[in-house]
Amino acid sequence: MQKIIPAHNPGQPGADVVACYLNSKHTSIKHSSYFQVYESLLAKFRNTRFTFVEIGILDGGSLFMWREYFGPQARIIGIDLNPDAKKWEAEGFEIFIGSQEDPLFWERFFAAVGDVDVVLDDGGHSNSQQVITAHHTIRHIRDGGMLIVEDTHTSYMKGFGNPSKYSFINYCMKIVELINSRSSVLTKHPSALTNVIYSCSFFESIVCFHIDRQRSFDSRPTVNNGASPTAKDYRFQKYKVNLDQSKPLASFVKALYLVPARVFSGILFLNSKTLLEKITSARLKKYFRG
Ligand SMILES: C[S@@+](CC[C@H](N)C(=O)[O-])C[C@H]1O[C@@H](n2cnc3c(N)ncnc32)[C@H](O)[C@@H]1O
Repeated sequence: MQKIIPAHNPGQPGADVVACYLNSKHTSIKHSSYFQVYESLLAKFRNTRFTFVEIGILDGGSLFMWREYFGPQARIIGIDLNPDAKKWEAEGFEIFIGSQEDPLFWERFFAAVGDVDVVLDDGGHSNSQQVITAHHTIRHIRDGGMLIVEDTHTSYMKGFGNPSKYSFINYCMKIVELINSRSSVLTKHPSALTNVIYSCSFFESIVCFHIDRQRSFDSRPTVNNGASPTAKDYRFQKYKVNLDQSKPLASFVKALYLVPARVFSGILFLNSKTLLEKITSARLKKYFRG
């Protein structure tokens, strides 16, 4: 692997984390775009008493990076499948040996350490490792904490069995649906995590689930005490106004193709609204291309 030293000019996003990365006396491998993400998500924990868990120890370099970055009050726990990683206990880290895709491992782990604040998944990066880890750790993360999953580009890599319906990125899409299902206008998603994951951030190759039960409540439409409403809601008239007032030619063309569309849908016993939706979808297609 070509050795690239990340830039760390003072004031540049992520510079403090990079400095700790470069200071670490043991090898660590991180992508150059990750440091700015770490800083934006994790700076609030610096010099506080909190519990940080990293899955994936390898040569131990990131454990030392985190200790320098977070300060002496942080409780830093490492997890790896490789039993040799136990040696880092001599350096003051808590080390657990086991597989992140084993639900029983997580049961024993949390029984031993209790709830935690941050879990950073830099383990094996397969779909099953990332999904099973998310499922079994999120409920043990305290409010204000997060699960950060690295190397999510593996969801697009053949070598990791992707594309797949069960890729980690597709799991994230399910989580997005679950978050949105807190809206009273939708059917609530029956999941133990619906009122646990407040939000989800997507970065290049990193996904973060922000945990906050207080903020993850079911939402209802509300109204303030303003003067009685008089304005007409133009939500469904906007398109018509655009065509009729500002683009008379487009309006004429639309009228021309809508008449046969309505007749045609009548012949085929189709709902003309369905046909209109199909026409709208065709117009939107180009925005989903690239
Ligand atoms: C990418 S390396 C970790 C790199 C390290 N965090 C760093 O910054 O240098 C991945 C590590 O995950 C461990 N690993 C792989 N599969 C695992 C599993 N199922 N459970 C726990 N650890 C696993 C490997 O043994 C390896 O040490």
